[in-house]
Amino acid sequence: MKHPVVVGLQYGDEGKGKITDILASQAEWVIRFNGGNNAGHTLYLNGKKVVTHSVPSGVLYPGAKNFIGASCVVDPIALATEIEEIKANGAALDGDRLKIDFRAHVTLPIHIALDESRESGAKKIGSTKRGIGPTYMTKMDRVGIRISDLFSEDSLEDKISFLCGTLNPRLKERGMAESSVSVNLEVAQKAAAYLKPFVSWAEVPFHLAAKQKRCLLEGAQGVLLDMDHGSYPFVTSSNTLAPHAAVGTPFPMKKIGNIIGIAKAYLTRVGEGPMASELSGDEAEALRKKGGEYGATTGRPRRIGWLNLDELRLAVQLSDCTGIVLSKADVLVGAEEVGVYKEGKVIQCKPWAQMSVDGKIDPNLEEFISLIEKYVEIPVVAVGTGPERKDMFWRTKNKDLWEPISG
Ligand code: GDP
Ligand code: IMO
Ligand code: MG
Repeated sequence: MKHPVVVGLQYGDEGKGKITDILASQAEWVIRFNGGNNAGHTLYLNGKKVVTHSVPSGVLYPGAKNFIGASCVVDPIALATEIEEIKANGAALDGDRLKIDFRAHVTLPIHIALDESRESGAKKIGSTKRGIGPTYMTKMDRVGIRISDLFSEDSLEDKISFLCGTLNPRLKERGMAESSVSVNLEVAQKAAAYLKPFVSWAEVPFHLAAKQKRCLLEGAQGVLLDMDHGSYPFVTSSNTLAPHAAVGTPFPMKKIGNIIGIAKAYLTRVGEGPMASELSGDEAEALRKKGGEYGATTGRPRRIGWLNLDELRLAVQLSDCTGIVLSKADVLVGAEEVGVYKEGKVIQCKPWAQMSVDGKIDPNLEEFISLIEKYVEIPVVAVGTGPERKDMFWRTKNKDLWEPISG
């Protein structure tokens, strides 16, 4: 058996949470492989909205276990709040259903303060201010705090002192108050007590599971926000490409099968950075409103543009995708015009007045889908028709993405 990976193909918020939730009904393990609580993945359960940030989006199916991989970063206060909220929504979420890799790095108050200070300056990139960049920065600098460090009491204070000694001069330089060792230590100690039942100490957690269990690997953000291959410096601080699903967990590479890229029928972006097909004025506002395009994590209005096929083809190649799920084509139903950015310019497509006719996708939408498929050279396996689980039109014979995609 080979296991599917879900990644975003644009600038995040493509609808990864929804498809992960749908596939989680068939999964035994749902594994997040990058990022932290900068993510906001929206799921619906009986009409009720649930947004996951650090917890994988398999959380609503009691049969699915959820794993936060080694190259994720974890803000323990935010994670505890998220776990408690999910439990209050009626989902059992104990140390049996949620595991955190002992190697994941911990976001402490000093990381958040540093992110905020950067974002208040002229060189801001429009981050989520969740401390993500500084946490990955201290990881790379080898002064970070890992989940395992929380449990070595004798050295924890030392490590936090060293971390604060490294970062506080930067805060001071930016005219910000220093973040004390005691404040960070207190958070770390509380985190240790709360997170203890959730920690996975396995060196190779998925070596056996990949042979015996149905696993699903969930990415956060999108390919164009990848640290190495995205629109640097307007990127996140982790690797978002599908190959990182193997590296970041670790998950046996040869056991990865389908790579499903999620793309919106138009484009959104939060934060700074280039966006060649960006719309403005009333046209952007109308789509923003209709699509509910406000950040699931920060509530910021998302920038709006036409689907960029040049970038989409690059993203498909970078992530070596086998299929696309096209989301939110329903938001364009009834639109006066539908544009697509291709070979450096916007071309007009025929608008569609409905999603389907007589159980078949509307011919104009089908033409739009064919244009995508021809350009990116992989199939659109499913089309989202609304935000709920049931709102998905499958174009493949076989909905089992643990098998090769067929016709
Ligand atoms: P993620 O970060 O990729 O999981 O995406 P977000 O949850 O941040 O944003 C996607 C938004 O679109 C959420 O509000 C979803 O409920 C919604 N959504 C996902 N797929 C569809 C779809 O096909 N149609 C509509 N109308 N909404 C969708
Ligand atoms: P999901 O998983 C959309 C963006 C931020 C900013 C840049 C860097 O829900 O798709 P960071 O806080 O990561 O240092 O911010 O990346 N960003 C996202 N945009 N969806 C996300 O996650 C994002 N996570 C980060 O807006 O431009
Ligand atoms: Mg999101």
